[in-house]
Amino acid sequence: MVPERDDTSRTLRVGMLGAGTVGAAVIRLLSSHREEIELRSGCSLEVTRVAVRDPDKDRYLPLDPARLGSSPEEVVAAGDVDIVCELMGGEEPARTLILDAFDRGKPVVTANKELLANSGRELFDAADAKAVDLYFEASVGGGIPLIRPLKESLTGERLRRFIGIVNGTTNFILTRMSEDGLSFDDALAQAQQLGYAEADPTADVEGFDAAAKCAILASIAFNARVSAPDVYREGIAAVSAEDISYAERLGYTVKLLAIAELEDDSIAARVHPAMIPSAHPLAAVREAFNAVFLEGPHIGQVMLYGPGAGGDATATAVVGDLVTVARHVLSGSRGVGCTCFLERGMRPMDDMEGQYYLLLNVEDRPGVLSEIAAVFGDNGVSIRSMWQEGAGEEAQLVFITHRAREGAFQKTVRGLEELPPVREVRSILRVEGEE
Ligand SMILES: NC(=O)c1ccc[n+]([C@@H]2O[C@H](COP(=O)([O-])OP(=O)(O)OC[C@H]3O[C@@H](n4cnc5c(N)ncnc54)[C@H](OP(=O)(O)O)[C@@H]3O)[C@@H](O)[C@H]2O)c1
Repeated sequence: MVPERDDTSRTLRVGMLGAGTVGAAVIRLLSSHREEIELRSGCSLEVTRVAVRDPDKDRYLPLDPARLGSSPEEVVAAGDVDIVCELMGGEEPARTLILDAFDRGKPVVTANKELLANSGRELFDAADAKAVDLYFEASVGGGIPLIRPLKESLTGERLRRFIGIVNGTTNFILTRMSEDGLSFDDALAQAQQLGYAEADPTADVEGFDAAAKCAILASIAFNARVSAPDVYREGIAAVSAEDISYAERLGYTVKLLAIAELEDDSIAARVHPAMIPSAHPLAAVREAFNAVFLEGPHIGQVMLYGPGAGGDATATAVVGDLVTVARHVLSGSRGVGCTCFLERGMRPMDDMEGQYYLLLNVEDRPGVLSEIAAVFGDNGVSIRSMWQEGAGEEAQLVFITHRAREGAFQKTVRGLEELPPVREVRSILRVEGEE
């Protein structure tokens, strides 16, 4: 039985909601680094309660098994829990539990990007109302310090844009397609075998996970609320080995990018596969690694790179948050709360400007090229380079455009789809990172 904390104690009691991949690593790290944490931060952290679905499962935790139970509600309500650490994942019951913790005046540390990206406004308002901390470093980029640099270290900068690789699963798949010539399906199967992808890979492959992270980063970078549905989203399932090979011949690498920009006081946020020049620092981000490339008038360019997931790496971010929150509790203060103090509109995707790669299967006969070029011209999209691959039934045309408005480019694509000599619009990719 853990005693009630007296106000002079330098020990803070942590209630864990979840002890899976990240939660178990946090419990181990708090135990193995106990002395160092105490010496560095002047307070010690003790895990007093843990809620899991199955408390009887052997987890090999450095913890009295009597501290494990199956009721997260009891953990939040317990008198011997000062800080709630939510590592269950999913929107409910995590949302209700976090709101209950705030109601009880308890700060929360979480890694739950899905919840923050969809219900961030409600959670931050509730934390503000009770003047308690809500820390979430691990929600984006796993073990890479990203949230605090954006929220605190870069207060003196007005960021213009970020481009990030924020999903390790899709980056692993694209790396295997590019380096081993695998098809998307084979690369996905390999990612699943190695534990990089879930049995149901939809959230990663369709870009939902990256869109949630993009929303969180954009909210902080531009001091305005951006939710997951505000982020334009395309996944990587349509990227083919053929696209990757054309990209390489052109000097590009294909990545799933999360991009957000501030222009004329409105925010554009999008997640989609794109070609980036192979010399761009993000092109060197391989396997399941993540990186975020920040741009601003004072810093120029800064890239934060590292392991975007994994229990141990992610646990370091959670422990960092726990120590910070504990110090605030002990000093009766609070960290930087919600920074979304501005109302900014979202720019529609059609207003975006960019360059495009387009691959067409076409009839191989004289005059086809001028018919196709006319469709580009009619929509005001100019062609930067074009060449033909194959002949006869196999004829393909590859185009790279100059910068054009997304709306104009999509109109061009619709026009090409209706043009008789165009057998198929085989693929489209945006080209990023060149200006
Ligand atoms: N894994 C990563 O690399 C990573 C990286 C960054 C962020 N995150 C985020 O961290 C969070 C946790 O991820 P994870 O990979 O550690 O998940 P996980 O391995 O699936 O662990 C979830 C834990 O929560 C418990 N749990 C789930 N629902 C519960 C319920 N209703 N009542 C009681 N316990 C419940 C599970 O209990 P049982 O063990 O009994 O099933 C398990 O211990 C998620 O929000 C995730 O997005 C993960």
